[in-house]
Amino acid sequence: MIGLMQHDEKTGREKPLLRAYSIASPSWDEELEFYSIKVPDGPLTSRLQHIGPGDQIILRPKPVGTLVHDALLPGKRIWFFATGTGFAPFASLLRDPQTYEDYDEVIITHTCREVGELAYGREVIENIRKDELLEELIGEGFHEKLRYYPTTTREQSPKMGRITDLMRDGTVFADLGVEPLCAETDRAMICGNLAFNLELKAMLEEYGLEEGANSNPRHYVVEKAFLD
Ligand code: A2P
Repeated sequence: MIGLMQHDEKTGREKPLLRAYSIASPSWDEELEFYSIKVPDGPLTSRLQHIGPGDQIILRPKPVGTLVHDALLPGKRIWFFATGTGFAPFASLLRDPQTYEDYDEVIITHTCREVGELAYGREVIENIRKDELLEELIGEGFHEKLRYYPTTTREQSPKMGRITDLMRDGTVFADLGVEPLCAETDRAMICGNLAFNLELKAMLEEYGLEEGANSNPRHYVVEKAFLD
């Protein structure tokens, strides 16, 4: 949870205004990075977007969430499925050495309405590919395991369509040269808007994958991309 203090009209006092965010930076990083949409008249993001060095924000000390490696059984390939700002937790996991230690192949799909919304994810991926510190941490050539599959739904781009539709008609698998998901080899994490999460979850279940938890590791996990 991060936020700012806000003046409460009723009591005349300051009180915290907090929202759930995914930490986008990797766990080993000394800096914390967050990725957010800016809602022009949103109570928090309309102010948060203007903070600068020296300003204070509130950060709750205890992180929570379901997108953790421990909730998944060992596998060969991990799929990270994101829409919009749902990319944030994967920006962290894609820079986590464990992701590459645990899997032979790491596939990140990111679906947005418009091309501009893909920019942050693309930049994270490009930086991973040339990051020498990460290469030292993870091992030479680690990024060859990483496959990036961006799509848009409303603005023209090289790959158009919802990831769910592109999976249903086999396009994703043909493009990447991989077999459709199966419980033996594939693991998945989902983070996007609610309708997307539910639809993809149902699809994964059809492929035979089951939802995991720390107490019962299985094949996939889901997290909501919290919007302001
Ligand atoms: P679409 O433009 O066809 O609705 P949003 O900005 O509303 O959170 O959506 C982010 C992306 O998720 C959009 O590209 C949107 O496609 C897509 N999306 C929304 N609902 C679903 C769903 N049920 N299955 C797959 N993709 C979805």
